[in-house]
Amino acid sequence: MTPPLIIAIDGPAASGKSTIGKRIAERLGYLFFDTGVMYRAVTWMALQSGIDLHDEGALTRLAEETPIEVAPASRFDGRVCDVLVGGRDITWETRRPEVDSHVSLVSSYSGVRRALSAQQRRIGLRGCVVMAGRDIGTVVLPEADLKVYLDASAEERARRRYVELVARGEPADYQTILTAVLERDRIDSTRAVAPLRPADDAVIINTDGLTADQVFDRVWALCQDDPP
Ligand code: CDP
Repeated sequence: MTPPLIIAIDGPAASGKSTIGKRIAERLGYLFFDTGVMYRAVTWMALQSGIDLHDEGALTRLAEETPIEVAPASRFDGRVCDVLVGGRDITWETRRPEVDSHVSLVSSYSGVRRALSAQQRRIGLRGCVVMAGRDIGTVVLPEADLKVYLDASAEERARRRYVELVARGEPADYQTILTAVLERDRIDSTRAVAPLRPADDAVIINTDGLTADQVFDRVWALCQDDPP
């Protein structure tokens, strides 16, 4: 069996891309790259420095000029990877609710997307990579050997996010999370540039009612299919 060299995993918020992508990458000895952390890092920096989130030019410059480093997780505190800006570890800052509620706006700007997708594409083309996001199979790496689109109902995804936050000891309210998930889905799938949608050649997996192990098994089986 020759496993696919480039694997794209797309899907809406909290559909399990990171959990599954990381496990598949570990099994194959590949790099796992979660592209959402880059959009989150730019959003966090903009909030920190008081940049107007409606100023597309300023946000584009920020995305172009800030070196965002995404490295394998250095701690066992539930993180999927380390996110560093100027040497500072901002991994957990990027998961804060204020980032959640603004990241889709920041990600809708074409200049921001251009800057970040160019970096993502460079990393992806090296191969031996599992890359997760919203537009990996459609825009960033349309040549990916395997494209998976993970889906689930908004209620199930909000429930998973709620459980995650509670496990980290953070305040969580299910209804607030559900509203935020629905709003992020709306912005991500209706934006003009690189909207969230499955690529024509993606395998769509609805994960409602499936455990993480069951989803992993399905994706793993796809990785073992020899191309025709
Ligand atoms: O982890 P979660 O599914 O909640 O989100 P994420 O993957 O960290 O992505 C956060 C946000 O970044 C998304 O809601 C999108 O607005 C944006 N994003 C994107 O536009 N394109 C990507 N390739 C990855 C993320």
